[in-house]
Amino acid sequence: MSSVSFLGLIIVGIFILIPNIISTSCNIESDEKKLRFNKNGEFKILQISDMHYANGKDTPCSDVLPSQLQTCSDLNTTDYLRRFIQTENPDLVVFTGDNVHSTDAYNYNRSMDEVFAPAIESNIPWTAILGNHDVNVLQTGIPRQAVMEYIVGMKNTLSLLNPSNLEEDELIWGWGNYNLEVAGIKGSPFENKSVLNLYLLDTGDYTYSFTPTFYLGYEWIQPSQQSWFLRTSKQLQETYMSAPQPQPQQGPAPGLVFFHIPIPEFNNISKSDMVGVKQENVICPGVNSGFFDTMLAAGDIKAAFVGHGHTNDYCGKLCDIQLCYDAGFGYHGYGIAGWPRRARVINVKLDKTQDGNWGPVNSIVTWKRLHDDRLTIIDPEVLWTSAGRDQSKSVFKPIMSE
Ligand SMILES: *[C@@H]1O[C@H](CO)[C@@H](O)[C@H](O)[C@H]1NC(C)=O
Ligand SMILES: *[C@@H]1O[C@H](CO)[C@@H](O)[C@H](O)[C@H]1NC(C)=O
Ligand SMILES: *[C@@H]1O[C@H](CO)[C@@H](O)[C@H](O)[C@H]1NC(C)=O
Ligand SMILES: *[C@@H]1O[C@H](CO)[C@@H](O)[C@H](O)[C@H]1NC(C)=O
Repeated sequence: MSSVSFLGLIIVGIFILIPNIISTSCNIESDEKKLRFNKNGEFKILQISDMHYANGKDTPCSDVLPSQLQTCSDLNTTDYLRRFIQTENPDLVVFTGDNVHSTDAYNYNRSMDEVFAPAIESNIPWTAILGNHDVNVLQTGIPRQAVMEYIVGMKNTLSLLNPSNLEEDELIWGWGNYNLEVAGIKGSPFENKSVLNLYLLDTGDYTYSFTPTFYLGYEWIQPSQQSWFLRTSKQLQETYMSAPQPQPQQGPAPGLVFFHIPIPEFNNISKSDMVGVKQENVICPGVNSGFFDTMLAAGDIKAAFVGHGHTNDYCGKLCDIQLCYDAGFGYHGYGIAGWPRRARVINVKLDKTQDGNWGPVNSIVTWKRLHDDRLTIIDPEVLWTSAGRDQSKSVFKPIMSE
């Protein structure tokens, strides 16, 4: 950029900023973008994974009943997404990868516009990360960075390419590693604090290695990502547990992590300890890069949510961290005919303090909704409570609109 146009930019910038400075002392724009708990003291996340969208009505469905095949396409995925969002009315929609089935998409930008359209129309903030099918540079020529950049530029999204404040030696592997802070209720003592932290990580796609032996498998969460994750978690905990007053907290604000490909520890959940089903092997990297240990070491993480395995939808607790599958949402991706596609809802609730004010997070619960006429709710369970009671398998009665 020439210095003249740079100067021009500054001058234009000043004129844009002046009215805001005069009219109000706080930055409205950044406040609007901020995630907050809602008036009911809840923050509800809808997790949608593996939509595998391609070309709308021209895309055939996989694994549906023979009677459904004729009338089924990507449009069913879109229709269901719209209904899920309307029914749950979440505070945030998180897409955990394989959003677009890149190798089948005729026009990649159009596929992205169409697949996220229901979220954009709803005016609810949404965020996305990539899976192993969103990008296939060899076939489509579109690099991972470009796909993530396109998503970051879309309307109403909080997605980020990567954190922007990194030093040269802190640069992170992958595209779409970022965290989101969720502030307490406006007017409560926690209105300026992040009381819930969301971390989103890129798990990449395939790794091709021919030496010393042929190895083909999935990529994994790299040391540079884990360092950033630990640094970020530490900073957030320090802020939360110290100033600004009035309420320094004793424990950290809970953290939730979202990524596409499961870590090997999803294998450690036995069938008797899970809520939900395991109908396929855990397809994960052959290398264990230690991210489970890193989550434990961070100290604030209560649950990790993944996609990738379309016919697994279980949660199970390992060393106090809940490991949760979402199962496949889209009709173009594989599934089981007659076993409804589904999505997960995560509802985080605040404590009501003795003086009647809203406090820190009290509990994290989850349930799933099926793709059927009534969007049936299944498997409600408590994932975590601040009281520390072991309620991981207790069932609660969800209060929600049908
Ligand atoms: C897909 O949508 C069509 C048109 O609305 C409908 O007739 C069909 O039953 C749907 N299929 C599935 C599997 O939901
Ligand atoms: C897709 O969008 C990107 C970013 O706006 C643009 O650079 C690219 O040319 C578009 N590709 C096609 C095929 O339209
Ligand atoms: C939060 O920040 C705003 C703006 O700086 C301030 O007016 C308000 O008193 C703060 N609230 C609390 C609880 O600290
Ligand atoms: C998970 O299972 C593997 C294989 O049995 C074992 O080596 C590992 O220690 C287990 N991890 C945890 C956190 O329990």
